[in-house]
Amino acid sequence: MNANELIATLDRLGEEFLAAIQPLADEQAIRAAQAQFLGKKGKVSEVMKDLGKLAAGDRPLVGQAANRVKQVIEERTAAKLDDLVNVAAQADLARKVDVTLPARPAGGGRLHLMTQVRLEAVQIFSELGFVVADGPQIETDWHTFEALAIPKEHPARDMQDTFYITGDEILLRTHTSPVQVRTMLTQTPPIRIVAPGVVYRRDDDATHSPMFTQIEGLAVDKDISFADLKGVLIHFVSRFFQRDLEIRLRPSYFPFVEPGAEVDMQCSFCMGKPPKLSTCRVCKQTGWVEIGGSGMVDPEVFAHVKIDAEKYTGFAFGMGLERMAMLRHGVNDIKFYYEGDLRFLEQF
Ligand code: DAH
Repeated sequence: MNANELIATLDRLGEEFLAAIQPLADEQAIRAAQAQFLGKKGKVSEVMKDLGKLAAGDRPLVGQAANRVKQVIEERTAAKLDDLVNVAAQADLARKVDVTLPARPAGGGRLHLMTQVRLEAVQIFSELGFVVADGPQIETDWHTFEALAIPKEHPARDMQDTFYITGDEILLRTHTSPVQVRTMLTQTPPIRIVAPGVVYRRDDDATHSPMFTQIEGLAVDKDISFADLKGVLIHFVSRFFQRDLEIRLRPSYFPFVEPGAEVDMQCSFCMGKPPKLSTCRVCKQTGWVEIGGSGMVDPEVFAHVKIDAEKYTGFAFGMGLERMAMLRHGVNDIKFYYEGDLRFLEQF
């Protein structure tokens, strides 16, 4: 090929490229087309191999023609790629968004069943004028036992198998009753508190966990009577179980109350009427379930906290909240509360 023929071929390649790239609409294809013409073994390079065969004076003209074609190809490629970006941006802008589409549910956490039950219990008592009081889980022997009229060697200590921390003076509280003592030491009547919190006992089976939750109640004022105690408890169980339930106060002994009573409520499963042909597994056919202890504050306790027993009377109660949750949701093993299994927890 002479110089003119080479130049004509180069020009033709330029045209050919423009035609080839014209319909292309994706980046990969455009770059491949460019390589097909300008790559090391591309069409333009193939033609330029003949450059060496030309007379020296002819070479610059052909070189210029080759550069022109290269430039055309490069510019056209860049423009095509630019177009692609613009088209994509336009498509983004034009895309219709359905703002009425419901959002994907956010996989949020939730309150633990026992937290829910505790908050609900507090809410119900607060409607009756009780406020929340708090105390430490690591307690002294004095607040937990002595001040509640349970001296060392008292047989009632056997009822609460205690975890001791140092010696026999510092321990994990076995009940929330020491909060009664702490409250009466720092407040003067009228007192109306509830104290929810965890307590610890050396106990472990299907219905007992070494750590569990109680809620303690205490009211001290002039003329507080046993009838007030019963009214508060009836209100609580009826609100908590969302139906009218009877309460039964069964005479019992707790060293820090006199008289003392165990609190039974009508079975919330069979509503106090056990089925004749099957067995109510919750109340074992008695129609009643035990939910806690209660009574009138013993004058000996008032003496420990320097409240005048001639002037004031008070009632106190303590209930197990896991038991409340069990009765309400039909959960029959206390382990479920503390295993942290989401399949259980997510149901509440
Ligand atoms: N503290 C007792 C327990 O854990 C329960 C109790 C009984 C609390 C009688 C009271 C009460 O306030 O008056 O076994």
